[in-house]
Amino acid sequence: MNEMQGYKACLETERTALLAIKSFFISVSDVGYDDKILPSWVGEDDGMPSDCCDAWEGVMCNATTRRVMQLSLNYTRRLKYYDRTSASFMNMSLFHPFEELQSLDLSENWFTGIYENRAYDSFGSLKQLKMLNLGFNYVNDSILPYLNTLTSLTTLNLSYNKIEGSRTKQGIHIRFRPADIHVRQLN
Ligand SMILES: *[C@@H]1O[C@H](CO)[C@@H](O)[C@H](O)[C@H]1NC(C)=O
Ligand SMILES: *[C@@H]1O[C@H](CO)[C@@H](O)[C@H](O)[C@H]1NC(C)=O
Ligand SMILES: *[C@@H]1O[C@H](CO)[C@@H](O)[C@H](O)[C@H]1NC(C)=O
Ligand SMILES: *[C@@H]1O[C@H](CO)[C@@H](O)[C@H](O)[C@H]1NC(C)=O
Ligand SMILES: *[C@@H]1O[C@H](CO)[C@@H](O)[C@H](O)[C@H]1NC(C)=O
Repeated sequence: MNEMQGYKACLETERTALLAIKSFFISVSDVGYDDKILPSWVGEDDGMPSDCCDAWEGVMCNATTRRVMQLSLNYTRRLKYYDRTSASFMNMSLFHPFEELQSLDLSENWFTGIYENRAYDSFGSLKQLKMLNLGFNYVNDSILPYLNTLTSLTTLNLSYNKIEGSRTKQGIHIRFRPADIHVRQLN
């Protein structure tokens, strides 16, 4: 349909899914930051649906398929100050529509974990994901079994989380080359 209009825009399902991701980040941020969170991700641009492949910060699409290939969502959750004692979960189901996603940066968001409800399925749907950055969150070893469902993953960054180094190696060494695993303790 978009091609009939003479230009190739991003997929409507992916555009809608990105707007849901924006709403999610607003919902897990402190009040007063709404305008600071992904301001270029807007529903409409001069009355036309805005093209998420064009000028949406942190979104990179495949030039041919116009499907989202890379998402940089680092430092998107905004907090006045970080309280380590409060749990906060990332909803991986939000990424389900992005079948061609190869690179996902979720660093610096201080999530303590992921919603385990259907989490296996959610990660499993990211069949092409090669790079995942979860640095500067606060996840522990309970995330490792889910990471093992990412069958295309070659680079995983878990710096500055609450992962036990040795258990990490046992948990994910099976498929990942140790050189690609970046783990640092946060104390
Ligand atoms: C974009 O998609 C096309 C068609 O699926 C594929 O051949 C190409 O390798 C993709 N480009 C990149 C940079 O992944
Ligand atoms: C996210 O990471 C990219 C690449 O490392 C960087 O260029 C960008 O400034 C970062 N964004 C934020 C909001 O920190
Ligand atoms: C996670 O996101 C999915 C897809 O948008 C939604 O259906 C589900 O209710 C969300 N789960 C939680 C716990 O918020
Ligand atoms: C690890 O994280 C999960 C999810 O946030 C939490 O339920 C669990 O209590 C944590 N385990 C430890 C040992 O901290
Ligand atoms: C891992 O990610 C963090 C946050 O983006 C970054 O500061 C760090 O340099 C990365 N580590 C490696 C080895 O790439």
